[in-house]
Amino acid sequence: MTDIHAHLLPGIDDGAQNMKDTLDLLRDSSESGVTRIVATPHFNPYYGWNNFRTPELTQLFESVRQAASAENIDIDIVLGTEINVDDDSARLLAEGKLCTYGNSRYVLAEFDERDTGRWVTSRLEDLVSAGYIPVVAHPERYYFVTDEPWIVYDWLEAGCLIQLTKGSILGSFGQEAQDNSDYLLDEGWVTCIASDGHRSGGIRNSKMKKIKEYIADVYSEKMARLLLEDNPAAIALGKEIVERGVRA
Ligand SMILES: [Fe+2]
Repeated sequence: MTDIHAHLLPGIDDGAQNMKDTLDLLRDSSESGVTRIVATPHFNPYYGWNNFRTPELTQLFESVRQAASAENIDIDIVLGTEINVDDDSARLLAEGKLCTYGNSRYVLAEFDERDTGRWVTSRLEDLVSAGYIPVVAHPERYYFVTDEPWIVYDWLEAGCLIQLTKGSILGSFGQEAQDNSDYLLDEGWVTCIASDGHRSGGIRNSKMKKIKEYIADVYSEKMARLLLEDNPAAIALGKEIVERGVRA
């Protein structure tokens, strides 16, 4: 499997706090069947997470790769960023100040839970117009998606991709997030599923075995493969996605 959303880099956001946390996340991930994972530190100046694309960030990323290899954790690690999108994001990306997925056109885009649907749609359109392919992070957790879930279909039509978080599907983030996840999966509007791993042992851990079995059992083997292997791999490697929304 490929996991395109994880807060692996130590000490720069609310994910791993030190290299031990980082290695615990990577070990959990690898042991649960993940062969490639993307480190997506938060870019959210509102919380003080100013993780711009800098030599320091690249160096930290390289140190994680080296530490994983020294510990014999067999996993490929790619660098990205989870961008809390506002009306300045397209400009920052165009100026090369933020990391996309491995320097591709794919961008992990998150919003605040209380943003409005119309505002979010406009920001996604900004990114698409600027030539990016937004991968919308965990829409099932946004309040307006509960009221108007079909907005997710509009985003797919506009050229975006949709990432659900495994914990939402498995019920770790409450009934609403789980109901929204079920709806989006049933409609076939989901491109991939990721861990959004923050910490080993907690509800936002990086283990992916259970969710893969769940999707294969409840939906289909084909859907499990597309949502957890083929589509996330294409995003992480900057390749084209064949089925952006996947039906069982
Ligand atoms: Fe995240």
